[in-house]
Amino acid sequence: MIKNILVINGSARSNNNTSQLVKHLLGNDINIIELIESKVYHYNYKGVYNADDSFQDIVDQMLDAQLIVLATPVYWYTMSGHMKAFLDRWTDLVSTHKEKGRALKGKKIAVISQSTSDAMPEGFEIPFKLTAEYMDMIYVGSLFWDMRRELKDSEELKKITNLW
Ligand SMILES: Cc1cc2nc3c(=O)[nH]c(=O)nc-3n(C[C@H](O)[C@H](O)[C@H](O)COP(=O)(O)O)c2cc1C
Repeated sequence: MIKNILVINGSARSNNNTSQLVKHLLGNDINIIELIESKVYHYNYKGVYNADDSFQDIVDQMLDAQLIVLATPVYWYTMSGHMKAFLDRWTDLVSTHKEKGRALKGKKIAVISQSTSDAMPEGFEIPFKLTAEYMDMIYVGSLFWDMRRELKDSEELKKITNLW
């Protein structure tokens, strides 16, 4: 299994189900960035942000990782707003900070998601898969868990680490 994993979590609350699932899968010591605790300003066309913006710091951590896991709850049938705002900022990586964008080439991306439904909404993975492709990154797949079900070491949960 890949050792150098960075998880970026888009949940809108601090003590959240998404990180509970991630820790169940990847262990308590896994490196998780909680977007809700990070200052990532919304994308703007000038590419100029307040000094306390932490997007580039997060990108630097992505560059140090082999696998980047985008973890998000399902909110209104899609990724959370925090995750979408974060992905919008990737525009900086193909414009004002192209060199960093190019350096992401070949890194792996996986998605972990959960909600209180039986399955991922239709099309949920598409933005992640297409974004990875656009960035010349490798989309390795996703895991979804219905949080109404008890978290245990089932075959379904092992699926995600098999992907890596
Ligand atoms: C804004 C919002 C929208 C939600 N939309 C959905 C949804 O479309 N489908 C669903 O099954 N659950 C939905 N839920 C339930 C969450 O996916 C579920 O409670 C999840 O475990 C919350 O994860 P979190 O603690 O990481 O935020 C929604 C919850 C919130 C707060």
